[in-house]
Amino acid sequence: MRTIEMIGDVVKMIDQRKLPRQFEIVECRDYRAVAHAIKDMTIRGAPAIGAAAAFGLALAAIEARATSREEFLRDLDAAEKILRATRPTAVNLMWALDRVMNATRAQNLDAHGLRDFVVALAQTIAEEDVAINTAMAQNGAALIEDGDTILHHCNTGPLATVDVGTALGCIIQAHRQGKRVHVLVDETRPRLQGARLTAWELMQYGVPMTLIADNAAGHYLRKGVVKKCFVGSDRVAANGDVANKIGTYKVAVVAHENGIPFYAVMPTSTIDLNLAHGDLIEIEERDAREVTHIEGVPIAPDGVRVGNPAFDVTPHKYITALVTERGVVRPPFVENLARVMRAVK
Ligand code: MRU
Repeated sequence: MRTIEMIGDVVKMIDQRKLPRQFEIVECRDYRAVAHAIKDMTIRGAPAIGAAAAFGLALAAIEARATSREEFLRDLDAAEKILRATRPTAVNLMWALDRVMNATRAQNLDAHGLRDFVVALAQTIAEEDVAINTAMAQNGAALIEDGDTILHHCNTGPLATVDVGTALGCIIQAHRQGKRVHVLVDETRPRLQGARLTAWELMQYGVPMTLIADNAAGHYLRKGVVKKCFVGSDRVAANGDVANKIGTYKVAVVAHENGIPFYAVMPTSTIDLNLAHGDLIEIEERDAREVTHIEGVPIAPDGVRVGNPAFDVTPHKYITALVTERGVVRPPFVENLARVMRAVK
């Protein structure tokens, strides 16, 4: 099934906290449940949480008892605020909420008409995500050569999107094209998206892979084993700086030092031209227990002080190219990102 879908008035999503041990579907029947699922990472990955936010608004629209247009928009606004406050870094969340809210306000419809409009637009956003990822997978696969060993960080597969994936989507597509690829999968502490989700997805697709500890990445990059690095992104600033899962920066610097191409893959909805550079991106700080515990088992002394930023920023000078559904964007990023975004409706 898709990572997330809305059938009738129920939003169904794969529970990403339980994989790979259990495959469970969570059903959300109101927008608060969707907000909770985004916050506790039942659903995660930048494009997937964008789609979840849109479906959250769709549930709020169905739930609204408003009879007038004004009341309906007030109800939708209240839900939007709760959904917006769930996670701060991935701009796809805000992008989806803004798209639904702006388009809805622009409709000259009564409450009933607006309700149908919001539900239909949420479905469109989810469908578009699949088409966009399919185009990105084609564009990124063209950068992958037969025989490449690719280092990958975090999870950017179908689970991080509605379907297909971003960086991992490119790798899976190259494999489907018959190219012999091998993926070194970073485990991605603290939440282990690499070990739990990426390894599981690649094994489902039969893509050859080796799971490595995060600390082993530098070793493989220096040894000349790795030919390319592929990662996703949660937000790209106007100058091409990339916010992505914590640990991405370290991989990019070591790749650069060793002359290895470093590609970040994202839909244009992840590009935020409102921010001049990456230091303006808000970095989510998550619960200390993600660091002090593994699967509920404590691994550090009680009461230890913890820092747990969920993302870091990779300066654009370490990035070879950004892969989008509209093509591969190379430096100078300020000019080339602006040109690509002008073409987006
Ligand atoms: O905290 P997460 O698991 O939501 O973070 C996800 C990532 O950092 C992914 O690499 C990212 O969303 C980009 S590609 C879908």
